[in-house]
Amino acid sequence: MVLQCFSFFFDFATGSNHSDARHSFCNRWDSVSISRDSNLLDKIISRIKDARGIDLSGYRRTMLGRRLNARMAMVQCQDPEAYLKRLQNDPAECDQLIDAIAINVSSFFRDPIVWEILAESVLPDTLHRKRRAGSKEIRVWCAGCAAGEEAYSIAILIHRALDGEFAEWTVHLFGTDVDKACLKKAQAGFFPRESLRDTKLGIIDQYFETSGDGYMIRPCIRKMVRFSHDDLVSPDRDTPVDSVFGTFDIVLCRNLLIYFSRNLQNSVLGKLYRSLSVGGHLVLGESEMPTDETTSWFAEVNRRHRLFRRRFVK
Ligand SMILES: C[S@@+](CC[C@H](N)C(=O)[O-])C[C@H]1O[C@@H](n2cnc3c(N)ncnc32)[C@H](O)[C@@H]1O
Repeated sequence: MVLQCFSFFFDFATGSNHSDARHSFCNRWDSVSISRDSNLLDKIISRIKDARGIDLSGYRRTMLGRRLNARMAMVQCQDPEAYLKRLQNDPAECDQLIDAIAINVSSFFRDPIVWEILAESVLPDTLHRKRRAGSKEIRVWCAGCAAGEEAYSIAILIHRALDGEFAEWTVHLFGTDVDKACLKKAQAGFFPRESLRDTKLGIIDQYFETSGDGYMIRPCIRKMVRFSHDDLVSPDRDTPVDSVFGTFDIVLCRNLLIYFSRNLQNSVLGKLYRSLSVGGHLVLGESEMPTDETTSWFAEVNRRHRLFRRRFVK
């Protein structure tokens, strides 16, 4: 399943227009696959860390190798050593490579059943618990939010769930990503039609305005989300810089753990665990699960759709 997922990302990374070039390069390189050239991969990882402060050393090496191959094919560079030199001399190429590795594929209400469960069960349950505790504050973190599609999707559901009570509640909703260019797009709030393919027409009418060949998110939703840069891999902090503290009621971290090695998954899941309030919900991507080492921290709410709750233990 994970492999399928990577080849899916790989197609996005290269883009269909380049598929012929990609295939001819990858075929030629099968025997010298960069993913097996550990030393060179380490040098590239180290170059990215020096240039951009992003630590890719815990990312799956096979995935890094494939993305690297794809990027080198795209820029028609056949020699891995030459590509490393290019990275050293051309800072823009570091950004392009990070882009190719990060793959910011996302869309509104991606995997619609998960969003139905959030709307019909998780949010009503969370609001009910809050009301019972005498609180009118809800805290949500969307980690690895790409251009904001997921953060705005949950903002829309919260807006609908609170309905006439919206003005009485305080909604703290944070969207974070390691990719600053993506965060700028999120703040701008413009989305191509394609990213709304899973969005119900009633929601599009209510929360979007047409703009050129896409849609602008309406200000009532845009101002609900605070976007900021955050590297989940960094040991410096557990929660987004703007959020001050954790105790999130819901954390979404979807289609991101699949990039990481087992050790890194453990440490990121630890972060997510610590950021949640007891009983708070964790939503992972459809190919992701807590690891064996972290499974006791989360109770399954809906295994199939990767919904969990933070347990009290640890
Ligand atoms: C495939 S997208 C998933 C977007 C969205 N969560 C979804 O499921 O539709 C993965 C996102 O994770 C971000 N990402 C990758 N490594 C990260 C890291 N170390 N910290 C935070 N975000 C990261 C990428 O920039 C990208 O936007």
